[in-house]
Order: sequence, then structure tokens, then C-alpha cells
Amino acid sequence: METKLVKAGETALNEAAELLKSGSIVAIPTETVYGLAANAYDVNAVRSVFRAKGRPQDNPLILHISSMEMLYDITEMVSTLSKRLAENFWPGPLTMIFPRKPHVPAETCGGLSTAAVRMPRNKFTLELIERCGFPVAAPSANTSGLPSPTSAAHVFDDMNGKIPLIVDGGECRYGVESTVVCFEGDDSVRILRPGAVTPEMLREFCHVVIDNGVLEMISPDAKVLSPGMKYKHYSPSAEVYILKGTDKNTEKFINSKKMNNVGFLGSGSEELNDSIIRFPYGKSPEEQAENLFASLRKADERGCDEVYVRMPDTAGIGLAVYNRLLRSAGFRIIDLDGGENAVHE
Ligand code: TXA
Ligand code: MG
Repeated sequence: METKLVKAGETALNEAAELLKSGSIVAIPTETVYGLAANAYDVNAVRSVFRAKGRPQDNPLILHISSMEMLYDITEMVSTLSKRLAENFWPGPLTMIFPRKPHVPAETCGGLSTAAVRMPRNKFTLELIERCGFPVAAPSANTSGLPSPTSAAHVFDDMNGKIPLIVDGGECRYGVESTVVCFEGDDSVRILRPGAVTPEMLREFCHVVIDNGVLEMISPDAKVLSPGMKYKHYSPSAEVYILKGTDKNTEKFINSKKMNNVGFLGSGSEELNDSIIRFPYGKSPEEQAENLFASLRKADERGCDEVYVRMPDTAGIGLAVYNRLLRSAGFRIIDLDGGENAVHE
């Protein structure tokens, strides 16, 4: 199959809407990461999404909507709290989990009795959903297990030959996927996956619990609330390690690496030997969110065998950066300040 890349605009809108209506799949831009879209109510279309990604069948998709009417078509259980969160964070990077109505296909929802729903903040994609008139199921548009795509070029790398159309809407604003929450009673949410809608922001409206799966390793056969949390994720081919330590200790450690092809994601102010390959990352949680996935992909392109990433600050969107990074690194953290690499002043 030939894969077309078209810039977001009227032509792309027409083509994408036609494809989705006829049961095909299309890669679309959102403010978080690119999505691989299909009619959420068309079981065959949804199956094609799972196939193109190589995604396990029990990992449910998010239903993207363009209006509250679409939410009422998916669920009967729109609580006062979910309405308030929708008013404040939609369109935007918040996904909420609701019991699903029987006509919402079980396949779309990984066999669960619930459906994850979000209204994305991207003009093209909102118009596309509006024009289709049905919710659009869209996981991140990467091959399962690889870092999520934050540009159309990333999608092309993973999906060339597998899907008919990629809509290029430029680089994604946030760079990490939406915050996923489920409800616990009338006044409480549990964060299953952190994102740009931060715990601090949600606390303005309700009690917030951060699920253990956000920062802890989950065994493959454990029963989890969000199936996506148990899979290997966001991993390039390179071995990724998290470096925890001061600037000095980080420099000492990384500069002692004698082999070639060592990649590094840091603040930008570390002094590195010429042999170390530096990739964009940054100091603020926002910059790190924007750069993390793109830099891990670049490290693979450069043939890095090992990539070292400095431990992010976990405030704000930093919790999402740390959550993704832990999975990329298979939870490997090198603590530089206590061990033999430490420089004490
Ligand atoms: O920002 C995003 O959310 C992007 C863009 C494209 O919208 N989408 C995305 O989809 O990240 P995906 O499929 O890569 O991740 C969806 C996550 C998975 O961890 C999945 O397990 C969880 O949401 N999820 C989906 N439906 C669920 C449900 N009914 N209950 C619990 N978790 C659910
Ligand atoms: Mg994903």
C-alpha cells in the first residue's frame, strides 16, 4: 500500500473523512502525539488499527470526540465531576474513563466494560471528527512498543506501507500522551497515566490519587486498571538508562564512557567529551516532554547503543516525562550521588 503524506487543510480533511467513513485508517495530528484513527464504532476498522500497530488486543483505544453529544452517545454516566472536568480541560489532553453503552464495540475497548474518551485540542482533528459524525478511536500512531510519534515524519517511519494517509499537522505541542483518569466516587479521580493535565491542575476540582502503576513496575500478569501500563513501552533499540545525580557526577560518569555511539539527554549545560552524542532534552518539564520521544528516535537513527537520560523533575508535566522515561529505560536508574561515581566537594 502506498502511504500518502498530506499537509493539514481542506484537501486532507476531505480525504481523511472519506477514508474514515469507508472503514479505513488515517494518521492524524493531535496536541499530544499523533494518533492512528478509525471509526470507533466499526469493528473491522478498529481491528486494522490493532494490526497496523502490532498492538495486543486487550489494550483498549481512546475514543476521540468533537462534542458533548458524542460523549452522551458513548455513556449514560456523565457525573457532575466529569462534566466540570470536561468544561475545564476539553478540548485538551485529558482522557476520562466511563462505563460504555452496549453499542460501543468491546473490541475498541479491549474487552472492558468501560470506554476512555477525550476531546483533542487540534483544529484539524476536531473538524475531522465533526465531519465524520462518529467518535474516532486513536491510539498513538507508533509501532507498539516504540516511542510515540510527535511529528508526521515519525509516523511515516513506523507506518509507511501500512496505512493510506498521514495528515501532517506539524510538531505536537506537548509531546507526551494525554492524562488518563478514572473516577472513584463523586469527588475523586485516579490518574492511570500522567500527562499535560497535571495532578496539580486536577486538584483544583477534586481529590486526586496517583495510581501505583504510574511510577512502579507492574508484573506482566498483574490485573491493572489501565492495560497499557503493563506493556513494554516507548523503547528505542538503544539501551536507555536514567542518570540520577548532580551535574558534576553526571559529567564524570558520562565522560568515562570509552565506547562510541553513547547518546546523552541532559540540560544542555553539561561539559561533555566530543565522543558523546548529545540530543535535545532541556531543563524545564515542558521542554523535556516536547523532546523526549523525538530524541529517543534520533538516538536510534544515529545508531546509539546506549542512551543516558538525566532524571526529570516530577513537578507538573514532569511526572509524565518520568513515567514514560521509566518505561523506556525498563526502570533502570543509575544513582550517581551515592556510589563510586560520586564527586564530593
Ligand atoms: O494523547 C493521547 O492520549 C494519544 C492521542 C493520539 O490522543 N493517544 C494515546 O493512545 O496515547 P494509546 O492507545 O497509545 O494509549 C491509551 C491508553 C492506554 O494506556 C490504554 O490502556 C488506556 O489508555 N485505556 C484506554 N481505554 C481504557 C479503559 N477503558 N480503561 C482503562 N484504560 C484505558
Ligand atoms: Mg501509545
